[in-house]
Order: sequence, then C-alpha cells, then structure tokens
Amino acid sequence: LAALLPELLDVATALAREAGALVHDGRPERVDVAATKSSPVDVVTAMDLASEDLLRRRLAELRPADGILGEEQGWTRGSTGITWVVDPIDGTVNYLYGLASWSVSVAAVVDPDSGAAPDPATWTALVGCVHAPVDGRTFQAALGRGAVLDGRPIRVNASKTLSESLVGTGFGYRRARRVSQARVVAGLLPEVRDIRRLGSAALDLCAVACGTLDAYFERGLKPWDLAAGALVAREAGAQVTGLRGQPAGEDMTVAGPAATVAALRGLLEAAGADADD
Ligand code: IPD
Repeated sequence: LAALLPELLDVATALAREAGALVHDGRPERVDVAATKSSPVDVVTAMDLASEDLLRRRLAELRPADGILGEEQGWTRGSTGITWVVDPIDGTVNYLYGLASWSVSVAAVVDPDSGAAPDPATWTALVGCVHAPVDGRTFQAALGRGAVLDGRPIRVNASKTLSESLVGTGFGYRRARRVSQARVVAGLLPEVRDIRRLGSAALDLCAVACGTLDAYFERGLKPWDLAAGALVAREAGAQVTGLRGQPAGEDMTVAGPAATVAALRGLLEAAGADADD
C-alpha cells in the first residue's frame, strides 16, 4: 500500500480541487435549499448533489474497483479494500450564506471488510485532501508522511493550558442534541481562551493541524466529516480521539496536541458531553 500513497494522494487532491471549482464557480447569486435531512436546519443544496456526482463519476474513471462512501449517496462497495470517503461540501450552511469557510473533503481508507460501510473506529486512513475553494487553500496528508498546507509542512501548536487555548467546536442539527451542546459550551467557555464555531468540521481539524486553532471537539461527526481532516491533523502531530478510551467518531471527536486533548477530554467527560440530555 505504501507504494500507492502518492498516486492516491494525487487522485484525492485532483478530485477535491475539481469538485471545489465546480461548486465555487457554479455558485448562483442566491443558493436554494434542495432538501433537508435530519431536521429543517440540516440542508442540502443542488451543489452538494452535483459535487458528489462529479466525485463519483471521476472515481469510477480513475479507481473503478474502489468503494465510495459519500454524504449524499451513501456507500458503494468496492473490491480492492480501499474506500473513498467524500464530503462534497463540508460547511453547507456557510456555502448557502456565502460565507467562505467550506471545503471539499476526499480521503482514501482501508477497512477490514465487515459487510458494512467503513467505520472511523476501525479504518486506517491512507490519504486525505481538504480543499477550501474560496481562499484556495489545500491541505494534504498521507499516512506516515506528514501533512502540508499548499505544499508547506504544517504542525500543531505546542500543548497549552485550557485557559490559553482557542477551541473550535460544532453543533448538530437536531434540537435535543443542541440543547445538550449548549450546556457543554456554557461550562467550557469560562475555562478557555475562547470558542470558535467555524462551520466546516474538515477545516476545523485542518485548523488544529496548522495551529489556527489549539484544539477542536465535536459530537455527531459523520465519517465523511472527519476522514481527511483527522488524517491531516494526526500527520501534523495532533492526537485525534474520543472520550473514555473510545476512538474518534460520532460519539465524540477531540483533536489537538496531547496534553491539551487530555485536559479537554477530562472536562468533556465530566460534563457528559458524549451523551444527550
Ligand atoms: C457539517 C459541518 C459542520 C459540523 C456539522 C457537519 P455538512 O457538515 O462540518 O461544521 O458542525 O456537524 O454536519 O453538513 O456541511 O457537510
């Protein structure tokens, strides 16, 4: 597999940029909501669908035997053991409003074949690319080979105390989830330098990787939200984990330098941040 990494990273990067250009250049003056998912605030635009169509079409040309797991069209099983995990627009609400913080996220993972879609708890991410078309930044990582932003190596910040840490987070779309997230944030806010909600989980993980956030946590992330970003963060020296010894995933994802993560985990565990009220 090691020999494949450069080729896979080239594919991830080319596709994230192609889909990013489609979505960016094709943005109408006002973006309409095409559908809603888990709740009325969980929106899908025509561009989410067009972007995933493009990613699937191009992967069918370039890597026809690999699997694909995408936010809008779900899982297509492959036969090589490699699955592409794609988020056609991560930060759809920002895109809807014309805010800059959204990205296209493309990763390739290997997962033991369990008969179900690949799971962040068991997969190994091989390569990942997170591309933010509005400012043109491209984050890339390959397993064991470090992470780069626009070709330059990046590194997490040194561990800091929580009171010196700028912490990113995000919120789910369901009302009950948000009620408990509001409680957790209320407990955390007095303990940290400040909190940011930037609106794209993939870019939040990349922000930890390059030091524009000290740490990040979020409950409810889906595989496509974290596949590429978690690899970028890890390859830049971050610990990316869950609470109570669990791996990062839907229950909780915490990222940052090790000591900061340990302090943040302690606080989140004490607050019961991995359970709904
Ligand atoms: C969302 C963004 C957001 C995070 C949500 C995700 P989407 O992804 O990453 O920052 O807070 O949990 O669902 O829906 O825009 O692809």
